[in-house]
Order: sequence, then structure tokens, then C-alpha cells
Amino acid sequence: MATRSQELAVADGEFAFTWSDFRQIAQLVHSEAGIVLAESKVHLVYSRLAKRLRAIGLRNFREYCALVTSADGADERQLMIAAMTTNVTRFFREPHHFEYLRDHIFPSLLGGARRGGRVRVWSAGCSSGEEAYSIGISILELLPEAAGLDVRILASDIDTEMLRRGSEGQYEKRQIEDVPAEMRRKWFVPVIGNKSVFEVSTELHSLVRFRELNLLNQWPMAGRFDIIFCRNVMIYFDDKTQNETWKRFSEVLVPGGLLCIGHSERISAASQPYDLIGQTIYRLRRGAQ
Ligand SMILES: C[S@@+](CC[C@H](N)C(=O)[O-])C[C@H]1O[C@@H](n2cnc3c(N)ncnc32)[C@H](O)[C@@H]1O
Repeated sequence: MATRSQELAVADGEFAFTWSDFRQIAQLVHSEAGIVLAESKVHLVYSRLAKRLRAIGLRNFREYCALVTSADGADERQLMIAAMTTNVTRFFREPHHFEYLRDHIFPSLLGGARRGGRVRVWSAGCSSGEEAYSIGISILELLPEAAGLDVRILASDIDTEMLRRGSEGQYEKRQIEDVPAEMRRKWFVPVIGNKSVFEVSTELHSLVRFRELNLLNQWPMAGRFDIIFCRNVMIYFDDKTQNETWKRFSEVLVPGGLLCIGHSERISAASQPYDLIGQTIYRLRRGAQ
């Protein structure tokens, strides 16, 4: 009799996919990227990775597992992780964060930049750049000369294809519909020869630096951040990884720095050095570092 490991996890699939294959893939995605794949995600895993099997001409998931767990499989491992990430994002998603910054934080922070101060914001898990550019637009609205000052936004992600798109800075007309019309006119320009595509302005583009960074690995940056956005990334991680990452953010924030998280994420104030000061907005507790 077949054990559960040898049983097919997806019946009638084009490629044989056993529970053992599923477990190997789930373990690898968890150890490499922190993402938890519950058994209920088995069909999603199958359909996203079946495309990879087709693309590289493998016959079943056993062969795929052998490839991604081998020393030669680094490139495919990266493509597998990218296939497993959820990249949904929008301009000015969860608008209360941008409103809070505009009303309570940016006036004095950007006033400091005008006098020669340094301002750093991190969009951690930036996907295709909409979050980082929304921060950039919010800054430029109050400080149009920001690109010529010491003001920068780091936009990082594990998914290099998303970073390529962000860095390119071109969006379909429907993707920029969430940007208020007035701001759209100021900070986007139509791409010549394609009326349905818009490109971020030179000023906006120059505020943002896109970098590949796996939140589970070392963080190479030297300076601290005034504000970190890490929204709708931790929901895919287990509790332990979430708690470790919230803690690591506190170590790279300036004293009193802010951390904005996604609508369904929470930080336990009892175990973390933050105070909740607004809707999913946390401030690094004074004296915490
Ligand atoms: C749902 S998107 C969130 C985008 C944006 N922050 C927002 O809220 O609209 C989640 C992003 O987290 C990235 N991600 C997942 N695991 C990651 C990891 N270990 N390190 C860095 N980025 C990761 C994914 O590639 C994806 O682009």
C-alpha cells in the first residue's frame, strides 16, 4: 500500500505531484524565503510551478525537486521562490499611512532635509515599486526639490523581476488610477508612442533605489531609517520569523523612527520595542536601542 508521501497531492494533473514533492518544496520555500505554504495551498503550488516544469521540459515534480535541491539548481530555486510570492500591490494602498505621514511626520522631517538633514525611508517587500513611488510622491508634494537633497527611498524585494519592473518605472494607465489626478499630472509622463503607459518623472525616479534583498538574510545597509514600510509581507511568514524581523527593523530605525505594517498584521507591544501610535503605525520606543 502507498504511504501518504507517495500519494498524488493533485489528482489528474499533467505532472505527477506527490505529497512528498509538496513537502520538499514547502520546506525549501520556508527555509529560503520565510514563506509558509500550508497544505491548503497545494493546488496553487501545483499550478504556479507546472509552468516552470513546462518551461524547462521536466516530466514530473520529482525531477523538479531534484533540480531545486541540487547545487546546480540555484537559478531555478530563485525562479521557484518568485513563483511562490504574492506580488499584489497598488499606488497609495492603505492610504491612511500616507495621510499620517503628510500631516504628522513629513512637515518636520522634510523641514530638516531642507536644512541639509538626511532622510531615509525603506519600502521592504516593495514588489513592483508602487509603494516606494507613493512615498516618493508624498515627499515631492511637500518638498519638490527633494531629489537634489539628502532624501532617499530604498525599495527592496526578493523577486528580481518585480525589482526590474519597479526600476523601469512604467505603469499601465489603469495601474495609476489610484493616484489622485493632480499628482498623476505632476509625477507621471506618458510614454511616447504608447498612450496607455505612463512613466514616473525623473525627480520621482531619482528618489528611489531598487535593491534585491531577502529579509531572512543579512541586511547590507549601513545607515538607519526614519521610516520603514513593511506591509503585506509578514503575513506569509510564521510567527517566529515575523517577530525576529520586527525586532531587526527596530535595530535599523533612528530613535523614534516609524514602522508601517499591513492591515492584517500586528506587532505585540509586550514583546517588541514599539508603541502603536496610529492605524498599523508603530513608533520605536524611546530608549529601546
Ligand atoms: C503582497 S507584496 C506587498 C507589496 C507592498 N508592500 C504592498 O503592501 O502593496 C509582498 C512582497 O513581499 C516579497 N517577499 C516575500 N518574501 C520575501 C522575503 N523573504 N524577502 C524580501 N521580500 C519578500 C514578495 O516578493 C512580494 O513582492
